[in-house]
Amino acid sequence: MAKRLGELIQQFAERIPAGTAVPRRAEPEQCPICGGAGWLRMDAHVGDPNFGRLIMCTCLMQEVDERKQMEMREKSNSDGYANLTFENFNAGSSPSVREAYTAAVGFAEQPNQNWLLLSGSVGTGKTHLAAAVLNASLARGVDAIIWTVPDLLDYLREAFNPTSVITYDQRFEDIRRIPLLILDDLGTESATPWAKEKLYQLFNHRYNAQLPTVVTTNQDLETIDFRIRSRLQDRSLVRHVKMSAPDFRPRKRAEPPV
Ligand SMILES: Nc1ncnc2c1ncn2[C@@H]1O[C@H](COP(=O)(O)OP(=O)(O)O)[C@@H](O)[C@H]1O
Ligand SMILES: [Mg+2]
Ligand SMILES: [Zn+2]
Repeated sequence: MAKRLGELIQQFAERIPAGTAVPRRAEPEQCPICGGAGWLRMDAHVGDPNFGRLIMCTCLMQEVDERKQMEMREKSNSDGYANLTFENFNAGSSPSVREAYTAAVGFAEQPNQNWLLLSGSVGTGKTHLAAAVLNASLARGVDAIIWTVPDLLDYLREAFNPTSVITYDQRFEDIRRIPLLILDDLGTESATPWAKEKLYQLFNHRYNAQLPTVVTTNQDLETIDFRIRSRLQDRSLVRHVKMSAPDFRPRKRAEPPV
C-alpha cells in the first residue's frame, strides 16, 4: 500500500511541471499532512538527487484527479444529453424503435459483458436512447460517459499539446477503462490513420475485456474499419438493433401550431 501510494505521488509529481501554480479549493488547512500547501518537500540529505524535491500531497492528488474527471465530463458535453431520458422517449413510433427502446432499457438495467449497437438513419432516436442509457446508468451510480466519436478524438489529440498537464496515455487509459462507454455517431470522424488506430485500440480493448459499451451509427457498417466492424458484428457480445423510423426532427418542427 505504502509503495503504491509512493508511486502514485511520484507519477503525479512528474506530470505537473515544476512551478505550476495549482489553485486550491476552499479550506485547504484541513489537510493534516501538508497543512494545505499541497506539496511536500522530500526528506533527503544534501547531495541526494531527491534533495529539495517537491512531491504532491495526496490531498492535492485527489483534487487533480477530480479536476481531470470534471474536464473530461465538460469536454464530452454530458450536460447536452441531460434531458434525453427513457421517460420522454416515445417508444411507439415503429417496431424497430420499440425493439431499440426495450434493448436500451434492458442494457441500462444490466450492462454486464454486453454491447449495444444502434444503427439507422438520422433522426430515428439513436442519440436519444444512448443518452437515456447514460442518464439511467449515472442515476444508478454507474460511472458512464458519452462521447461523439469526433469529439473524443479531438479530446485525445489535445493531450499532445505541450501545455497539457495530462498526458495522452492517461486520457486514453481513463476512457479505455471507464465502466460504461457510450460512443455516439461512429463513422462521422475523419478517418486519418491516427484516428483509425486509436479507435481500433479503444474498441479492441473494450472488446477483449468485455466492457459495457454502447455505439450508435448512421453509417452502413460496411463503411466502418473492418477491424472495428468485425467486433461490432460478434453476436455473442453485441446486441445490434437496426432502427428505421421517419426522422423525428423535421416532423416535430413541421407540425402546425394548434
Ligand atoms: N421516439 C422518440 N421519442 C421522443 N423524441 C424522439 C424520439 N426519436 C427522436 N426523438 C427526438 O428527435 C430528435 C432527434 O433524435 P436523435 O436521437 O438525435 O436521432 P439520431 O441520433 O438517430 O439521429 C431529438 O431531439 C430526440 O430527442
Ligand atoms: Mg445522433
Ligand atoms: Zn495535503
